[in-house]
Amino acid sequence: MSLEEIANYIVSDGKGILAADESNPTCGKRFDSIEVENSENNRRDYREMLFRSKGMKGNIGGVILFDETLRQDAKDGTPLKQLISNSGALPGIKVDKGLVPLVDGSDEVVTQGLDGLDERCSEYDSLGAKFTKWRAVIKIGDSIPSDDCINANAKALADYAAIAQSNNMVPIVEPEVLMDGDHSIDLSFDACARSFQALFDALENNGVNIKGIILKPSMVTPGSLSEKVAIREVAEMTVRCLKENIPSDLPGVAFLSGGQTELEATAHLNEMNKIGEFPWKLSFSYGRALQQSALKAWSGKSENLFIAQDELSHRAEMNKLAALGQWDIKLEDR
Ligand code: 13P
Repeated sequence: MSLEEIANYIVSDGKGILAADESNPTCGKRFDSIEVENSENNRRDYREMLFRSKGMKGNIGGVILFDETLRQDAKDGTPLKQLISNSGALPGIKVDKGLVPLVDGSDEVVTQGLDGLDERCSEYDSLGAKFTKWRAVIKIGDSIPSDDCINANAKALADYAAIAQSNNMVPIVEPEVLMDGDHSIDLSFDACARSFQALFDALENNGVNIKGIILKPSMVTPGSLSEKVAIREVAEMTVRCLKENIPSDLPGVAFLSGGQTELEATAHLNEMNKIGEFPWKLSFSYGRALQQSALKAWSGKSENLFIAQDELSHRAEMNKLAALGQWDIKLEDR
């Protein structure tokens, strides 16, 4: 498959991405909430449960993995990446190495991981990964985000994207504007707009093929400590921010959920797709907003396998409908 075919496939027909690339420490936080030990076997069992869910089929076009999972086998010896392919989804891999302060003592951060990235990508390509992810984090606060932060993260994202494409993998570029704080939706709009402008300038400078990438942005929302606004307002502001700042030859936008509830993330995506037709697909790349109910239902117990799989299947199906603008709250009654 060419880069363009991979990118188009992942977001085709309402399909989206299951972000299951929690690092081991982040997985530990999720497991703490259900009092499950963060062991390699438990991480395998949990992800095996997800990837064998019926609702992966037709709803999930790609699954982002952490390094461990790409190399891991299911209990019966089938590689986990094979379970993903069996469901019709493509396996992808997180390749960044986390966050460091932008400068000593700064609250702002930049993503590291460019050292040795070409070699790592070449190995991931040979292991069967079809796409990659790199997450940049932009914080909103007193006089931030600074231009330095936005530009440093845009440059790293663009350098990463060029390396991923030269290794035959589609880069998912993720400039996450955090919801943390009490900022207004206007400040979120401004931070997203500046991040997109800097990112697409840097991608162009690096000669990255825009038709072979997927953008994974935050939605434009007020801070998590601010009063919520109407679903329609989030949808309209997000669509306007994208229309004004991203190129039309981009195949797809797959949002992160960033701390929204499962229902909020679905409702927002649906509302955007109801606004009309866009040059790019508007879909999902949710971690928590796809997994939360499934994780809780599973709670580390094999007897809960089927109810947990039902939860994931349901969310995958609801988000596919949202990516087509066909979701309705009534469909949540089961
Ligand atoms: P959330 O949807 O839980 O924000 O996770 C998506 C993700 O991959 C963040 O990098």
